[in-house]
Amino acid sequence: MAKGIVIYYSRSGNTKEMAEIIAKAMNEAGLKTECKSVDKVKPEDLLGFDAIVVGSPTYYGSMAAPIKELFDDAVSFHGQLDGKVGAAFSSAANIAGGNETTIMGIVEAMLISGCVVQGDPQGDHYGPVSIGKPDQRVKQQCERRGQRIAELTRKLAL
Ligand SMILES: Cc1cc2nc3c(=O)[nH]c(=O)nc-3n(C[C@H](O)[C@H](O)[C@H](O)COP(=O)(O)O)c2cc1C
Repeated sequence: MAKGIVIYYSRSGNTKEMAEIIAKAMNEAGLKTECKSVDKVKPEDLLGFDAIVVGSPTYYGSMAAPIKELFDDAVSFHGQLDGKVGAAFSSAANIAGGNETTIMGIVEAMLISGCVVQGDPQGDHYGPVSIGKPDQRVKQQCERRGQRIAELTRKLAL
């Protein structure tokens, strides 16, 4: 049975809240999904999941160091994430504060790993973004993204 994981780094709770909403939506859409802080994830754990969703606060327009470290350490099994579903999300303090570049940095690492990353023509195109604490719009985007990840994973895991 296909499985998913949502991994996040969060100091003040905004990214964590997004992660929990996405994981809940994935579970409700039928994809068994865990939600974990990055410090509870070992790089090799990634091998056990069909969908890997990663969220980071925007730090200087990029992913936070613990998230980067997870990807950097995954080089020891480079190539083995090929074909898994990937997705990313971010929380920032400001509009145009670099949240989309943060998401794209995570997506780049996923693409280099061979992950399949789906955009969204109607919702947040690259992945859900929040300015500060998630509001109703962000919560809805996180739910939508979780549903779409579950749907794509189901198709690819056939
Ligand atoms: C080291 C550091 C760098 C940051 N850089 C940015 C930034 O470039 N742009 C921005 O909009 N917010 C920036 N922020 C604000 C955080 O992205 C924002 O508060 C975010 O919601 C925190 O997420 P969290 O609650 O999950 O920790 C920065 C915060 C810290 C601590």
